[in-house]
Amino acid sequence: MKNIQTTIARLYGPAKAASKQAYSPYSGAQVGAGVLDDEGHVYTGCNVENASYSLTECAERNALVAAINAGVKPGAARALLIYATGFEVLTPCGACRQVMKELLADDALVISCRNETDFHSWTLGELLPDPFVLTLEQDHA
Ligand code: THU
Repeated sequence: MKNIQTTIARLYGPAKAASKQAYSPYSGAQVGAGVLDDEGHVYTGCNVENASYSLTECAERNALVAAINAGVKPGAARALLIYATGFEVLTPCGACRQVMKELLADDALVISCRNETDFHSWTLGELLPDPFVLTLEQDHA
């Protein structure tokens, strides 16, 4: 719980601020996400929609991509916090869970907040218990 509270203290403000940048003319949903690396740096993203709906990028993936672009190594990100209103609780979509599995630390914490005291939290393992990983057999490599 201490870990959850310190993560919220660090990531809630940046994720909420990121949600204000959402480009979501189709759904109206404003989602922000913050990623915390192992040096305490924060990277953010918002959802960016597209008229070709399937090209929409979620806030979580955009925050993770921002971290990687800034030089954060896969596995060095400790926590991801989502801020969204208008959902009972925004549980991350399947695509984002798969990307989280690849880029967050194995023991990372994922928190989804409606406000600073109304939130859900999960471990990565709870969100994606049996992830796809690329382990090609030798003759297919
Ligand atoms: N969305 C996110 O940003 N994260 C999720 O995990 C689920 C959905 C966004 C995408 C789209 O802009 C809007 O919410 C409705 O699906």
